[in-house]
Amino acid sequence: MSRSCISPDAILRQLALCQSIQARLPEHPLAYVASYGCQQNEADSERLRGYLQTMGFSFVQEPEGADLVLLNTCAIRQHAEQRVFGNVGALRHTKRRKPGQKIVVCGCMAQQPHAADRLRTSFPYVDLVFGPQELWRFPELLLQRLDSGKRVFATQDVPGTVSEGIPVVRGSGVKAWVSIMYGCNNFCSYCVVPYVRGRERSREPEYILQEIRALAQEGYREITLLGQNVNSYGKDLDSGQDFAWLLEQVDAIPGDFILRFMTSHPKDASPRLFDVMARGEKIAPALHLPFQSGSSRVLKAMNRGYTREHYLSLITQLRQRIPNVVLTSDVIVGFPGETQAEFEETLSLIETVKFDALFTFLFSPRKGTPAEGLEDPMPAQQKQQNFQRLLETQNGISALKHHAYVGKTLPCLVDGTDEKGNPIARTRGGRLVHLNGPALPEGTWADVTITAASTWALFGSIN
Ligand code: SAH
Ligand code: SF4
Ligand code: F3S
Repeated sequence: MSRSCISPDAILRQLALCQSIQARLPEHPLAYVASYGCQQNEADSERLRGYLQTMGFSFVQEPEGADLVLLNTCAIRQHAEQRVFGNVGALRHTKRRKPGQKIVVCGCMAQQPHAADRLRTSFPYVDLVFGPQELWRFPELLLQRLDSGKRVFATQDVPGTVSEGIPVVRGSGVKAWVSIMYGCNNFCSYCVVPYVRGRERSREPEYILQEIRALAQEGYREITLLGQNVNSYGKDLDSGQDFAWLLEQVDAIPGDFILRFMTSHPKDASPRLFDVMARGEKIAPALHLPFQSGSSRVLKAMNRGYTREHYLSLITQLRQRIPNVVLTSDVIVGFPGETQAEFEETLSLIETVKFDALFTFLFSPRKGTPAEGLEDPMPAQQKQQNFQRLLETQNGISALKHHAYVGKTLPCLVDGTDEKGNPIARTRGGRLVHLNGPALPEGTWADVTITAASTWALFGSIN
């Protein structure tokens, strides 16, 4: 499939439609926007907010009383989907109390045919539904809803595009997401993403670099490059430029920021990438490299394209270059057909690698994926027990890793406050530090001495 770009003129036309929408809205309209998914989903919400702001909306923290409610959904696991349906159900009442409220459901869940059908039949008060590939024409779709008086569903399986010039309202003045590519071509057998986000498309490097130069000038301190598999960046571009090249270019942009990226895929991560990371001045000494399973047989059934041995050799090569690299990963417990011995291989992999932190998931069957129909003989209770064992093992490792920081002094970026209002910061490797002492402005780099540690976080004081 050829890579298709939405022309800047087409985006300008969408922006002009924002003015027509504004003319049809009450004065000072209010919008509530919620994201349910990954960082990519958050980045999409920032663009949807950009469009909404162009329509004249201000933003509120709850749906009650808002003129427009937008839920940007996720479909990665059953739980994500249930949460969205629960919240859409509750909107029946907010809409009753605010006649004229417009309800928009978009994102990955909306792109699944069964979910779109359920929204159509069981939630008649939802006004507009569209998938991630249609985000660029949100103004056009909303105007269609306002003018036709009919509900609008734009959830057909359309080829994905790349568009530039959509305005963005960022959630933070310190940390910024920058999508460098969209979609996924990997078709891991458990995963819904390739079905709901379409094929891999890379943004042209010049647009990415331009966006980051502007962010650096505006004083952003942390920039995270996003893609489902950043290591395949550029494969669809004619220029032959790849992710390692892009990372070097971004690293060379003047500014006081730290550079992160996610997600890397072990089948495409290369020593060349690790060399660039080791050389980079701004690149965080951190890698999120999901392994999913410690068993080569299960990895094959997952269609991951690497073996346990390959994964372990990547970790060795990375640590040779960046000895203190902060390593994080994702793992799935209870993939259909995973035996107890194969689960033990996963456990032994985490004991061998000693990740700093791990995101652990119980397998969740997704409609339309190859793993949905596989035989799954292991009882749920046994899967649950395995899951607990994995968590406990990793908690022990995380605690040990964190305790090794105690007594050290490290540069940290102050990036917000915790739920108690105390300042928090991140190490260059991305570990969370609760600070005691006076709050410093977000975006300040400070030398922090680590005084204590727990499984989840570090505690420190500013020097
Ligand atoms: N593109 C990223 C992952 C995106 S989804 C990558 O390939 O690494 C984030 C994580 O959700 C995955 O790494 C996987 O561990 C988990 N996940 C995806 N589909 C799942 C499913 N059906 N059941 C359980 N966990 C799943
Ligand atoms: Fe899903 Fe695999 Fe693509 Fe990640 S690489 S988004 S897990 S299909
Ligand atoms: Fe992200 Fe969920 Fe979609 S994890 S890509 S929002 S399915």
